[in-house]
Amino acid sequence: MENEMKIPNHVAIIVDGNGRWATEKSMSRSKGHEAGFLNLQKLTAYMYSRGVKCVSAYLFSTENFKRSETEVNFIMNLLTGKLKEILEFCHKQQIHAIFSGRKDKLSNKVIAAMNKIEEETSKYNDRYFNICFNYGGRAEIIDATKKIVSDVNEGKLDIDELNEDIYENYLYHKLPAVDLMIRTSGEQRISNFLLWQCSYAEFYFVNTYFPDFKADDFELALESYNKRDRRFGGINYDKKSN
Ligand code: IPE
Ligand code: IPE
Ligand code: MG
Repeated sequence: MENEMKIPNHVAIIVDGNGRWATEKSMSRSKGHEAGFLNLQKLTAYMYSRGVKCVSAYLFSTENFKRSETEVNFIMNLLTGKLKEILEFCHKQQIHAIFSGRKDKLSNKVIAAMNKIEEETSKYNDRYFNICFNYGGRAEIIDATKKIVSDVNEGKLDIDELNEDIYENYLYHKLPAVDLMIRTSGEQRISNFLLWQCSYAEFYFVNTYFPDFKADDFELALESYNKRDRRFGGINYDKKSN
């Protein structure tokens, strides 16, 4: 039965509930982010082992700058402070890590860490890890549109040629469409994540806080995904209709 399972090619995950996980344990929110960071490594390794080729993880949104300086700094420092660990993980799993998001408002140290991770892992071309950091779906669409206008003005692009496939060349990365979008922590909203890429994604919402979302929970998400009838606007005529 397991062999017959359909495995989503691109899984996107909104890593949510780190703060509440920690608060309910009378710990600081930072401890929750640390636990989330550790869990992300285990979970993504499991997803790749199940045959997923691309994982997108939402780790910091353009709106998350509204949080306290202490919390924002802690999350930024996770990326720079755990750089060695992140690189070891990517090499062990043979993952090509890429970043999506705006670079403005990020320190030079954070940008340098991102560049190093991208450069060092660029040799891997089977598994992709799209890390969405200072990311916003609307910002991505605006940034793409600006680049398109600039190319049209410079005569590099004929506006009449613009279609969805070409538009995707202007996004942060040209990635396959998201098949399965998971959000932990009980919230049932997209919070500005991969708006373009999720147009036909299957959504899976679960109450578990992200640090507790393990391999078994992912299996339940896969089971749910396998029960979905993905029609993409068409009709599956081989299914009985009533
Ligand atoms: C997700 O956990 C991580 C980030 C958004 C940075 P939260 O920090 O949003 O945790 P909750 O939702 O407050 O519990
Ligand atoms: C979305 O979670 C952003 C990330 C997980 C990075 P939030 O916790 O920021 O979203 P809202 O505020 O509940 O919508
Ligand atoms: Mg949250």
